[in-house]
Amino acid sequence: MDERLDSFAPPLGPGFGPELLLQVPPRGGRRQAVEEALRVAIRGGRLRAGTRLPSSRELASQLGLARGTVAAAYEQLVAEGWLTSRSGSGTRVAAGASSPPAAAPVRAAPSAAPSHDLRPGRTDGGAFPRDAWARAMRHVLREAPADAFGRGDARGRLELRTTLAAYLGRVRGVRVDPSHVLVCSGFTQALGLLTEVFAELGVGRAAMENPAVGNHVRVVASRLDVADIAVDAEGMSCAELAASGAGVAVCTPAHQFPLGMSMAPARRAGLLAWAEENLGWIVEDDYDGEFRYDRKPVGALQARRPSRVVYAGSASKSLGPAVRLGWIACPPALLEPLVEAKRRAQPTSPLEQLALARLIDSGGYDRHLRGVRRAYRRRRDLLAEAVRSRLPRTRVLGIEAGLHAILRLPSGVPDEAAVLAALRSASVDVHALGAYLRAPLDHERRPPSLVVGYGTPPARGYRPAIDALVGRLRELGAA
Ligand SMILES: Cc1ncc(COP(=O)(O)O)c(C=O)c1O
Repeated sequence: MDERLDSFAPPLGPGFGPELLLQVPPRGGRRQAVEEALRVAIRGGRLRAGTRLPSSRELASQLGLARGTVAAAYEQLVAEGWLTSRSGSGTRVAAGASSPPAAAPVRAAPSAAPSHDLRPGRTDGGAFPRDAWARAMRHVLREAPADAFGRGDARGRLELRTTLAAYLGRVRGVRVDPSHVLVCSGFTQALGLLTEVFAELGVGRAAMENPAVGNHVRVVASRLDVADIAVDAEGMSCAELAASGAGVAVCTPAHQFPLGMSMAPARRAGLLAWAEENLGWIVEDDYDGEFRYDRKPVGALQARRPSRVVYAGSASKSLGPAVRLGWIACPPALLEPLVEAKRRAQPTSPLEQLALARLIDSGGYDRHLRGVRRAYRRRRDLLAEAVRSRLPRTRVLGIEAGLHAILRLPSGVPDEAAVLAALRSASVDVHALGAYLRAPLDHERRPPSLVVGYGTPPARGYRPAIDALVGRLRELGAA
């Protein structure tokens, strides 16, 4: 008997049915060999207590033996207490017969999840359009052609690319033909692919907003130099961009992350002029373009110069980050290398792509967005009102859009680290603005600020979360 097989083969869990990997040596008594092979598998933990074995007919046919031989081996093992046999539930490994290999100890989570999760960048999982998504997916499973179950075109399913080109034109003003849409697994994958392509094209340096999402900066910095570009009330500094020597600028024009302002018209013009004069590229991260509350929606920058602006969007805010779908409206000159990079990368589920296309085409996506926009707006209003009335010296910024706000704390409160620690002790989790800045926290130049997400708490938990946040900040002197 080859014991190595049993030490390396994966364990077969309870409920396992007709297949069984069993090595029976070619010589010697057949029945004894089957018995011994099963004993080894059970003793070693590969066949666990409760696992159903194939019927004697099935196993005999898999092993090329007579059915009676396997039936006799089963009977013997039942008599020895290795197996149980009951009519209706078949032959199973007896309780206590197997000794599963010791599992590696699972490390406990560092700390219990806070009861008030106000971290930014997250959505309300309870608002996910389960029924509409299930209907769309059922439709796809019923109607999709056979090739939808393969890896598919590296650019993504034509159905979704066609739908997205129309949707992005209608809602964000994006100008793109379906042949120049590339579907990927969220914005993060898109940014990774773009970084690869820019590096291949000889771009050495990328300009990135400071502050920005740390993970996005890490993705870009894996292949390119990153120049930190300051952001003020109007958006990214064009003067710093011009002086940076960068060949690509990555930015969030519709809603700066995390500060929340939209890029002023003069800056947008400056950014486009920079791209034109320097043959530079602009990556427009339009991560929450659908969530604009007070002002008229700001259209995509891409519409002004589709040949130099790479527009990138994501379903992570509109539906939820569990749906790993993002898209790029690609300038013609980047299409080929980008598709090639995607071909080398992790594919994006064609079934989910078709489900999103169906959701958009059926009107379900727009309906869902109308509903969540209303709900998030109410949350935002409640946060802004609580701060205005109970923390009059604290300012709420960046709330025209999105799912988070900046709370700029007044002088006299402790530094950001101390504020975060005090909030955590009240079970409130938020982020400090300093976590998104690529320079040490400087209290002389910048008042401590918090980035507060209002997407995550469940509907009933939202008011208590805001009360806990505001109450603790009052104790810290932010009133
Ligand atoms: C600034 C920003 N861009 C893009 C995204 C979307 O990233 P992804 O599509 O990889 O989830 C997020 C997070 O949702 C974000 O905060």
